[in-house]
Amino acid sequence: MYTPAPNRYDAMKYNRCGRSGLMLPALSLGLWHNFGSVDQYNNMKAIIYTAFDRGITHFDLANNYGPPAGEAERNFGKILKDGFNAYRDEMIISTKAGYYMWPGPYGEWGSRKYLVASIDQSLQRMGLDYVDIFYSHRPDPNTPMEETMLALDHIVRSGKALYAGISSYDAQQTREAVTILKQLGTPCLIHQPKYSMFVRWVEDGLMDLLGEEGVGCIAFSPLAQGLLTNKYLSGVPAGSRVGRGLTNGAIGEGDITPEVLGKIKELNSIAAARGQSLAQMAIAWLLKDERVTSVLAGASSVAQLEDNIACLNNLSFSADELAAIEMILMR
Ligand SMILES: NC(=O)c1ccc[n+]([C@@H]2O[C@H](COP(=O)([O-])OP(=O)(O)OC[C@H]3O[C@@H](n4cnc5c(N)ncnc54)[C@H](OP(=O)(O)O)[C@@H]3O)[C@@H](O)[C@H]2O)c1
Repeated sequence: MYTPAPNRYDAMKYNRCGRSGLMLPALSLGLWHNFGSVDQYNNMKAIIYTAFDRGITHFDLANNYGPPAGEAERNFGKILKDGFNAYRDEMIISTKAGYYMWPGPYGEWGSRKYLVASIDQSLQRMGLDYVDIFYSHRPDPNTPMEETMLALDHIVRSGKALYAGISSYDAQQTREAVTILKQLGTPCLIHQPKYSMFVRWVEDGLMDLLGEEGVGCIAFSPLAQGLLTNKYLSGVPAGSRVGRGLTNGAIGEGDITPEVLGKIKELNSIAAARGQSLAQMAIAWLLKDERVTSVLAGASSVAQLEDNIACLNNLSFSADELAAIEMILMR
């Protein structure tokens, strides 16, 4: 029987999500990888328990996480059922719909038909009555924005989710979505964009908009799927995401170009001078922007998770450090 650490809230930092009443941990745990049928159940459980013991209250899922799609929700549901559910009121669980999930015209994108069916399936897989945050996983160019936002509003009003979010919407799409949700009376809680030292599109208007509108931001793939760590410095480890030769949007050998490797090495030296691992510096670098509510990282082991959490020991940067990092990234 799992008993969480009594001091679990002592060291974690909690940030307000935009102008909402909800606080999120500075570091959240993503279940995109490492929670599928190919992964070890005991390892998943250890990762989830360690996260919770260290104050990570937020677990992020989506209908299609696995593999196969749905399996991450199923495994998380199993962990909940095995006793973790006793702490449900201390957790923020999110899920999403938008990518391909089942065949036919109603199994992906942003129709009301798909989103409502998908949340019902997600709740069933996880054995939950509600999730805390439900996201439109990606904008749908062929469904009116009003329909997708009405579906989010409906899902919240029907009690299947407490808050609504959007993911990977550009600044213009976000403005539209936020305006409609505000009119409907279900404010947009949070935006989940890809954001890391290597992927910075959000700096071109989106972050300003989120700040102005009081919408929170949770940055996904903050470690560029593992590139922004020390793991690929001297080759590709067999068990790594690249080493496993995964498909479904995972990075591969082709992403570790000599140019990328050069940058990782230089960034790693700056991190070492700060007394941090590169993973810790990559997370801290995102948290320096107050509009970033939380950084959403994945982990394939407890050791990685512990490493990432220790970023909290040094979140501040000198102007010189920031300039040196910028020089490397801009090259
Ligand atoms: N909204 C969206 O469209 C979307 C898309 C993608 C992801 N997400 C969310 O964001 C979460 C994180 O994405 P991600 O998994 O791509 O994130 P990431 O945090 O950039 O990469 C995580 C991977 O990096 C490696 N790693 C983590 N910590 C490490 C450390 N301290 N040292 C060495 N290696 C380390 C592990 O890979 P190894 O397997 O190599 O050990 C781990 O699985 C997902 O789980 C999901 O919740 C959302």
